[in-house]
Amino acid sequence: MSKNLSQLARRKGVEHTLFQELVLDKNSQSVQARKKLAKAFLVGEAIVHGTASFYDFIDGENANKKAYVCNGSSCLCAGTQDKVKSSLEQQLGKNEIGHVTCLGRCAENAAFQIAGENFSGKDIDAISNIIEQTKSDNLQALSKEHYHVATTLAEPILTAELNNVERYYQAFFTFIENSTPEQLLEKITESGLRGRGGAGFPTGFKWQSCRDVKGDEKYIVCNADEGDAGAYSDRYLLEQRPHFVLFGMLMAGYLAGANTGILYIRNEYPEAIRVTQQAIELFKKLTSHSLLAINWNFTFKIIKGAGAYICGEETALLRSIEGQRPVVSVRPPFPTQSGLFGCPTVLNNVETFASIHWILSDEDNRFKALGNGKSTGSKLISLDSCVVKPGIYEVAMGTPLVDVIELAGGFSKSLKALQIGGPLGGVVPLDKIPELTIDFESFAQAGFLLGHASIIGIPTETKMIKYIEHIFEFTAAESCGKCYPCSLGSVRGKEMVSNAIDGKSMIDQTLLSDLLETMQLGSLCALGGGVPLPIKNILQYFAGEIAPFIIEKNVLGKKAQNKIVQAGEQS
Ligand SMILES: Cc1cc2nc3c(=O)[nH]c(=O)nc-3n(C[C@H](O)[C@H](O)[C@H](O)COP(=O)(O)O)c2cc1C
Ligand code: SF4
Repeated sequence: MSKNLSQLARRKGVEHTLFQELVLDKNSQSVQARKKLAKAFLVGEAIVHGTASFYDFIDGENANKKAYVCNGSSCLCAGTQDKVKSSLEQQLGKNEIGHVTCLGRCAENAAFQIAGENFSGKDIDAISNIIEQTKSDNLQALSKEHYHVATTLAEPILTAELNNVERYYQAFFTFIENSTPEQLLEKITESGLRGRGGAGFPTGFKWQSCRDVKGDEKYIVCNADEGDAGAYSDRYLLEQRPHFVLFGMLMAGYLAGANTGILYIRNEYPEAIRVTQQAIELFKKLTSHSLLAINWNFTFKIIKGAGAYICGEETALLRSIEGQRPVVSVRPPFPTQSGLFGCPTVLNNVETFASIHWILSDEDNRFKALGNGKSTGSKLISLDSCVVKPGIYEVAMGTPLVDVIELAGGFSKSLKALQIGGPLGGVVPLDKIPELTIDFESFAQAGFLLGHASIIGIPTETKMIKYIEHIFEFTAAESCGKCYPCSLGSVRGKEMVSNAIDGKSMIDQTLLSDLLETMQLGSLCALGGGVPLPIKNILQYFAGEIAPFIIEKNVLGKKAQNKIVQAGEQS
């Protein structure tokens, strides 16, 4: 992606970005509005159009609908969405209903959004009342949900109550008075904290490398795009513990040398955006004098997403903020070297930031002691309605997966597998559950992925061939288009599976396995590169169920194969 465009976007800074203009202006679809924006931001009209056309909620057939039906994997598995869709269509008309993946209401399912507010569970039964209230101030109050929050930790880290916000922020000034930045960074590194966004990159190392890079301006970016269906632990933190997140960003700013913190929050989370904005106001009120006294400043800004899963990938997210088409960039350079607007940037997941206060407050490095080898501290797990008590569970890294399921009351229905870690996470058959503990290593060794640690139950009656189709379809819809293995591979994969389901043609085993290999090895990022994992898991563990759809064909035919062998021998 163009380095020049990143630097040009910097002219207006984060306060005024092309992307936010497009998101916030309801008329931004008009040609006139686009021309005006191009002029205001001194970019070509094609740039404005290229950006706008990428997003589900700005352009295209899914934009500006009255209601959106969640089509994430959890709602799909729960089988609730046909009723939601038909009820909404009856009330509002077919053309007024769009789709969204995912609203994070996976504990209750039957999720939908109307007039910018989210609903789930039994809400669909009261749809007439909800529609009546869309123009009143009561709509927010109707948008209630219930999920369990529990922990096995004697002293919780992420689910702890926060009773005194002022004292909580006061700790920042105590830390920086009593310790040097090097000592604080050392403590974070020593804790063994690894990024909770999926890749598990060591946080202390990331912050140190940004600190080491020279730059007149640096940024701290919180990745709150939580696009994995089934995941809502980041939403929990933003809605229930926003100061934990803000504190981590503040400390990252101080240690890396940045004065601006940006929270990129998905548009599908209206409550998280509201609560975090209120928390920012309180932060300002409580800390402005003390910050002035140390002659240092840190400001927060929320950027709302616009419905693109790939914007969770760090380089796409940064391009999105800049107002460029959010296509994945090749790394290096890494964001710590050249991130937002080409400036050194620390980008972390919500949960990663939320652990920082606890780590720095702890005298005895209990964070490290809590974990399991290279995976330290605690982890939030989000469980969907497949368990008796769906909700957010905080457990020490290394906790057996069976214990987590037991804590959540066991399964609520008959299941055949779990998908853990979002659409790119592994599909774990039930008999493999006892082998897994909640840590990066255990999952990787068993051929799965901890990822964001969201858990979706796949019911016994779900057809695995349909689930493969769903995964390919999701990837095809969300691919950024930068590389062929993913952008073409996911579409061809979906076609192959759909044709088999429709009885048009069997899946060619060799072709499918070549396709998966190409995607895994040849994709630029973990969207195309990651999607083969759950599909391979299904092919391995549910081979019997898939067998009627798959055949070992000789794709090229004997003659062509002989030619290839001969050509190989001659060269
Ligand atoms: C397709 C894709 C989607 C991603 N979505 C998210 C996301 O929603 N939230 C997140 O924190 N990280 C997501 N990531 C990982 C980020 O690129 C990045 O590694 C992470 O935010 C870094 O923060 P951490 O070090 O605290 O984990 C995604 C990666 C890919 C490839
Ligand atoms: S793998 Fe897919 S999402 Fe990632 S860069 Fe390639 S096309 Fe884009």
